[in-house]
Amino acid sequence: MSALVLAVAACGRGHAPPRATPAGVAALTTIDFAHVANYSAPALPASFDRTVTALDNSPASNVADDRVATLGRVLFYDLRLSTNNRASCASCHRQALGFTDSMRFSNGISSAATTDFHAMRLGNLRYWQPGSAFWDRRAASVEAQASIPIHSLSELGWGGAAGGLDTLAKKMAATPYYPDLFGWAFGSATITEPRIQHALAQFVRAMISSSSRWDTGYARVFSPAAPNRALDVDLPNFSGQENRGRHLFMTRVGNGGAGCSSCHVPPTFALAADARSNGLDAGETRLFKAPSLRSVGLTGPYMHDGRFATLADVVGFYDHGIQAGPALDNRLRQAGRPQRLNLSLADRAALVAFLMTLNDPALTKDARFSDPFRR
Ligand code: HEC
Ligand code: HEC
Repeated sequence: MSALVLAVAACGRGHAPPRATPAGVAALTTIDFAHVANYSAPALPASFDRTVTALDNSPASNVADDRVATLGRVLFYDLRLSTNNRASCASCHRQALGFTDSMRFSNGISSAATTDFHAMRLGNLRYWQPGSAFWDRRAASVEAQASIPIHSLSELGWGGAAGGLDTLAKKMAATPYYPDLFGWAFGSATITEPRIQHALAQFVRAMISSSSRWDTGYARVFSPAAPNRALDVDLPNFSGQENRGRHLFMTRVGNGGAGCSSCHVPPTFALAADARSNGLDAGETRLFKAPSLRSVGLTGPYMHDGRFATLADVVGFYDHGIQAGPALDNRLRQAGRPQRLNLSLADRAALVAFLMTLNDPALTKDARFSDPFRR
């Protein structure tokens, strides 16, 4: 690590000394390098207090820095990060859709090759403990995750004969802008795999979702001292149906609810750290995670293999479709057997109406997370 990087870190957030604007990338993108956007010190609602920030999976080795996250934004949207300049991270993680896509399985560099799993939304990934990534949790961290789509032959294509990250780093070093941009972000122009990982992970972790209609209503009733942090209170900006769905989501099965919030935990709606799988397939042994349910209503399909086209299908599954298996979470069992909620059709529709209130129109439009390239 260079002395300059250490000096910046010592200055603390938002007070880094000025550094020369990276000229090449300033011409290619709409980014204002003189007034770098704030990624490192997000304004959070009152309900995102220590109970939430304690779940932050940002490692001490990758402290948020506005310039590094800005580099992450460029990397996330740059088609040159693929072997044939046809795909970027954003091909499958579309801001307007909550950073997923509408395909069951996605295409990267070629329409002939598809991913093995459905693309995941990225909002509030930061608040998932233990911080692992992918549906089956196989990447240990968001940093480690970032290299995997770069290598994948169905995503950005650098695996096998394409030569891996070294070849990508050489391609980037030959562009008129990456050496400058890495110098601006890190204090030296060297392009390395850990630096790419750090920048992409910081950009993804900055995608905090806290501006849905549920947040607006919850902010009006929230008090840290209220019973259950006021999660059981009807929200003033909700319809009767949405409040019924909210009640079912937040209330335990034994108390007449559907028990969803015991795993999809408000206010982030990221998965509980100790959650196991939800019984999609009989005999399942794999432990799956879910992305935060923020913006889940923007597009289907749902689950790791995109098996459900609609939220009504999802709710129907939790009502009467759960299968037994070693990985099934006890929260979804009654007397040892997979739960059967037997919800009325009206209650199932209410749960769907509630899930729609988690859509976050601020995250999907936030300029900090938009495509910076002039195309
Ligand atoms: C071709 C489509 C595609 C491309 C390109 C792509 N992704 Fe993904 N992404 C996916 C799919 C599919 C998954 C789920 C994969 C799995 O679970 O194995 C995923 C999962 C993730 C996750 C894990 C989320 C979580 O909650 O665990 C992150 C983070 C992520 N992608 C970031 C990126 C970044 C950064 C890039 C660019 C370097 C990228 N993706 C490129 C399709 C894509
Ligand atoms: C035991 C914990 C647990 C409980 C309780 C639970 N879920 Fe889930 N949920 C999961 C897991 C794990 C997944 C990811 C499953 C997969 O794809 O393999 C998931 C996935 C989902 C998805 C799909 C997310 C996506 O991005 O595709 C939705 C929607 C959802 N759950 C809604 C609900 C609702 C509504 C309830 C209450 C009726 C509920 N969940 C109860 C653990 C749980």
